[in-house]
Amino acid sequence: MQPDKSRKKIEMMFDEIAPSYDRLNHLFTARRDIVWRRKIVNELKKKDNRFYNIVDLASGTGDLTLELLKLDPDKICAVDISKNMLDLLRIKISDERLELIHAEASSMPFEDDSIDLITIGFGVRNFANLNESLAEIRRVLKPGGYLVIIEMFKAERMSSKIFNYYFSKIMPFLGNKLSKSKSAYNYLSDSVQNFLTVREFTDICQENGFTHEKSVNNFIGVVNSVYLRN
Ligand SMILES: C[S@@+](CC[C@H](N)C(=O)[O-])C[C@H]1O[C@@H](n2cnc3c(N)ncnc32)[C@H](O)[C@@H]1O
Repeated sequence: MQPDKSRKKIEMMFDEIAPSYDRLNHLFTARRDIVWRRKIVNELKKKDNRFYNIVDLASGTGDLTLELLKLDPDKICAVDISKNMLDLLRIKISDERLELIHAEASSMPFEDDSIDLITIGFGVRNFANLNESLAEIRRVLKPGGYLVIIEMFKAERMSSKIFNYYFSKIMPFLGNKLSKSKSAYNYLSDSVQNFLTVREFTDICQENGFTHEKSVNNFIGVVNSVYLRN
């Protein structure tokens, strides 16, 4: 069954787990999440594009925002629906080029064709209306601009029994306990298992007008980075 992805539910959930989010993220991925985000920025450095205006959508506490500053943008906006996540980002990053925006993916306060790069780190799976959000992203991206997503997708093949047990039982139990949440980490597990495979996701992006450049498998076909162009 699809978990509830209403704005109210998602916003409250991330507000609730914000204080423990970074710690648990690093714990559950054995700190690989740091390497995966860094790899994206290294990949983008190889492009001919210059990324003057960047939006880190669903920025959370800003781990990806921090890496993106290495691309030396003129301006970077961190957009998120969770105020508590943005408050922590504000403490983490002090940079005059950074603006924090409390807004949602389907309605962003940017002009048409104004952004060179939009990234979404582990956020797109939570978007209630994916097509509407992709249309909004296309509206604000410059022609030829990049959308780069790192996400946990539904595995195309049966992943290992050990991983399934870890992800559906151990991680939710520990995550709820350590974050003092009733069910946020059950949502994490359910939302991945009910999400799209990376192939289904890139098909939808292409139907929405993006060009799929490549997908990179970071971890057993579940954690993938997807490079798309407007
Ligand atoms: C799992 S966290 C990821 C944070 C960060 N990008 C990272 O790489 O760790 C997902 C974030 O997406 C935000 N989010 C979820 N749905 C959103 C939406 N429709 N629009 C904007 N932000 C959203 C949540 O508030 C949360 O901060």
